[in-house]
This record gives sequence, structure tokens and C-alpha cells, in this order.
Amino acid sequence: MSISKHIHNDYLPHFYHDWMKEPGRTVLLARREGKLVALQSWLIADEGATAVFEGLRVCPTERGRGISWAVHRFAHSYIQQLHPTIKKARATTKLKNMKNLVARRAILCLVGQEESLDDLISHLKQKIRFSGFTSGLIPLNETQLKKVLLDPKLPSRVQLPGGSIIQTSQPLQLMEGNLEILKRWNLTWLADNEEDPVFLSFYAPSYPVPYNGRATLLNINIFGTDYMMAQGALVSLLEAARSKEELKGTIIFRVHMPWSLVETLQAFCDGHQGFTRCGEVLEQVLLEMKYA
Ligand SMILES: CC(C)(COP(=O)(O)OP(=O)(O)OC[C@H]1O[C@@H](n2cnc3c(N)ncnc32)[C@H](O)[C@@H]1OP(=O)(O)O)[C@@H](O)C(=O)NCCC(=O)NCCS
Repeated sequence: MSISKHIHNDYLPHFYHDWMKEPGRTVLLARREGKLVALQSWLIADEGATAVFEGLRVCPTERGRGISWAVHRFAHSYIQQLHPTIKKARATTKLKNMKNLVARRAILCLVGQEESLDDLISHLKQKIRFSGFTSGLIPLNETQLKKVLLDPKLPSRVQLPGGSIIQTSQPLQLMEGNLEILKRWNLTWLADNEEDPVFLSFYAPSYPVPYNGRATLLNINIFGTDYMMAQGALVSLLEAARSKEELKGTIIFRVHMPWSLVETLQAFCDGHQGFTRCGEVLEQVLLEMKYA
């Protein structure tokens, strides 16, 4: 757990134990002279074609000595030995100057206290009402979702980054074998219709992070470029999370979206006293490396 110290909003302490039980998941620990110095994890997805990497951490005292590169080289050769038919590795990162970049997304972050949450929701609803827009977004059940996700035209209609749904940091291509993984993640989905949507969004269950002692983090993911729908989705998903999740104390929302929506969504979220922006808008990049 101490490898995550000093990393704001780190999901690793919460997910580590789930990872131990997750089918298709490997967690690699690196030791130097018996001491744990690094961690890397990956999930085999896309019906065995892709290793989705996440969770790279090097102990603060060991950074800058090439350990992450050593882990990188080892992990990729190990994966190819273990899964000879694997085609590629994918990952998302907020690190700068990365090679093998496939797509870019933006992450807007808001922070506030649970007591202000209802007020935030009413404030945003009022803004929507003022604009005269009725979102018309609908929740998707499992059968509808399956049909929507397996439609080969969805990636271009919704402009999916690199043709993938990115669940916060994990990219998955749209195929039958990934539906089980998506189900396991227990996401709450919204779309503009259940036949041929041009807009999709979901939130993933919230989890605790060591921000200012302890906070709850809720990730909202938006696909599609319609800014009115994006505003509607944000409010509806916040409302759904408000009723289903245990949102207590300090709450952080991270909204993952196409860059084209950032300006409008920032303006939409600005102006509330209880929930304010937390840092600059971050860039998340999707990386892909093909195996020979
Ligand atoms: C980012 C991190 C893993 C780098 O580990 P490290 O052992 O210090 O890195 P190395 O000495 O092997 O590499 C030197 C540089 O190459 C970069 N690098 C490492 N792997 C890389 C890769 N696969 N592609 C491109 N650049 C890479 C590193 O970011 C580092 O850049 P920096 O000096 O600007 O930080 C480490 O700083 C860390 O654990 N940070 C906190 C957690 C985090 O940000 N993880 C990334 C999750 S997306």
C-alpha cells in the first residue's frame, strides 16, 4: 500500500485485493535485494488479443533508475511467452511525451463535500432548464446494452477513442468476450436511444482514495460529441450515483470526455460554491503497442 503514498486519487489501494480474484488479471511485483520496488498489472481482454496494462508504480525512493523500463521489458516478454497468440498491449496514462499514441481524452475534476451535492445537482438542473433542453437520455438494461455495444457502427457513430470504450482507465474493444468484463464492473449506462445511439455515458461504482486523508471518487465517462447531451448525462449520472452510491465526506468527480466537450462542460460546472474544479484539466492518452 505504501507504494501509493503521495499519489492523489490513487485507485490501487482499493482495487489491489479485487485484482487478486479477477479472472484474466496478472499482478507483477518487482523486488530488488528482497525489497518490493515496483508493481505492474494487466488484464487479458478482447477475447485474448490484448493485454490491458494499468497500475504501474515504482517506489518513490527507487524512481529515476530505469526500474519502470525494466518492468516494461520483462512484462511484455512474459506476456508473449504466456499467451503466444496475443496481438497487442494497450494502456492509458497521464504521463507526457508517450510514444504509440492512439487517442487523447480529457479529464475534468471537481471536488466538494457531500453536504453540497444535492445543491450542485439542483444548480446544474436549473442551468439545463434555463437552456430549454430536455436530455431524453435513457438508461440501458443488459439486453439493450449488449445490442448497442455489439453494433459494428457504434465506434464511428459515437467516435470511440481508438475504437474502444474506456472504462476510466481501461480500454476495451467492443466484442462479445468483453461483455462479461463490463458486467463485472457494474457500470450504470445512459444513451440517447437504445437502437443507434450517437451518445453513450456511464459511471463506475465510486471508491475511496487517500485524498486529504480520505475521499470518495466517482468516475463518469462520456462518449459522443453532443454537449447538451453531455450536460444532461452529467446531471443524470450524478443523480443516479447520489441514490445508489455511498457518497460521504469529500467527493471527487472525474469526468472523462472528448477534448471537444471540455470548454462547455467546464463552463457548465463552474459557478457553484460547494463544488469547485480540482486542478487543471488532465490529458489521458490511449497507447497501443503491437506484438511482433
Ligand atoms: C512513472 C513511474 C512509474 C516511472 O518509474 P521510474 O522507475 O522512475 O522510471 P524510469 O527510471 O524507468 O524511466 C525514466 C523515465 O522514462 C519514463 N518512462 C517509463 N516507462 C515509460 C514508457 N513505457 N514509455 C515512455 N516513457 C516511459 C518515465 O516516466 C520516466 O520519466 P520521468 O523521468 O520524466 O519521470 C514512477 O515515477 C511512478 O511510480 N510514479 C507514480 C505512479 C505513476 O504515475 N504511474 C504511471 C501510471 S500511468
